[in-house]
Amino acid sequence: MDRRPDLQNYTFRSGRAYSPARMVNEIATPLGEPPSTESASVFSSVRQVDQPPLALPPGLTFDCRLQMEGLGFLGLLPSSAVPVAFLDPQYRGVLDHLAYGNEGVRRGAARASLPQMTDEIPLFIREIDRCLMPSGHLFLWTDKYHLCTGIGGWLKGTSLEIVDMVTWHKKRIGMGYRTRRASEYLIVLQKAPRKAKGVWKVHTIPDVWSETIGKRDRVHPKPVGLQSALIEAVSNPGDVVIDPAAGSFSVMEACKQKGRTFLGCDING
Ligand SMILES: C[S@@+](CC[C@H](N)C(=O)[O-])C[C@H]1O[C@@H](n2cnc3c(N)ncnc32)[C@H](O)[C@@H]1O
Repeated sequence: MDRRPDLQNYTFRSGRAYSPARMVNEIATPLGEPPSTESASVFSSVRQVDQPPLALPPGLTFDCRLQMEGLGFLGLLPSSAVPVAFLDPQYRGVLDHLAYGNEGVRRGAARASLPQMTDEIPLFIREIDRCLMPSGHLFLWTDKYHLCTGIGGWLKGTSLEIVDMVTWHKKRIGMGYRTRRASEYLIVLQKAPRKAKGVWKVHTIPDVWSETIGKRDRVHPKPVGLQSALIEAVSNPGDVVIDPAAGSFSVMEACKQKGRTFLGCDING
């Protein structure tokens, strides 16, 4: 039996009928036309904030894979210093709370053996809040469990606010007792003062982003294309982007692509 959706009856919101070429174009192409900036005064394609000069703390190196514990790394950074941070913790949420899969068995074994960060996440977020310059952004990767149960508690005592969220459509189907996972979630947080105009300068990024990761890696790498687009939106060339739990260092790759300076580490190097 053919279980594929009946795409012949699919109509786009524009009213146009389905065609395979249009489907690929409208769903698989991440970048669309930017909204008109003339009528919407909340948009700005110009960034009007600059990163203050950052003296590199002793023991750290730009654009390299540092092997360090992330909280120790953040503790070396000055306050109000950088425009962008990424945090992709090693979650136990799904494994612990949904008792999903046979943790420690077969494909779960490599991931379960990585250092888990769940209890430390609020500490990481508080330190990142301190390091971000005013109106700076934290891009926080989250799993389905924490997305549904809420991350609000992690923001207590910080000046960070949730301002947006992007769903990463991995274009690859995973596991799941009910629906099968094909997506992950990136929460966009901004340090006070919260504003988009003059700070967020790229207006072509859709909030559902399709990107395939070529190689599969035990650290669960995130899409370089999406992270590059976001970095470009909220920083200027040369600015410093931090990632205290960098895994495969996909954020460093994104920084290279966009001419930004990477500063980050992983406990496993
Ligand atoms: C989900 S992976 C990050 C993947 C990464 N975003 C990428 O695109 O490849 C989480 C990483 O956190 C690291 N980690 C766990 N605890 C840490 C800690 N206390 N300090 C620094 N890194 C830590 C793990 O070694 C793992 O590589």
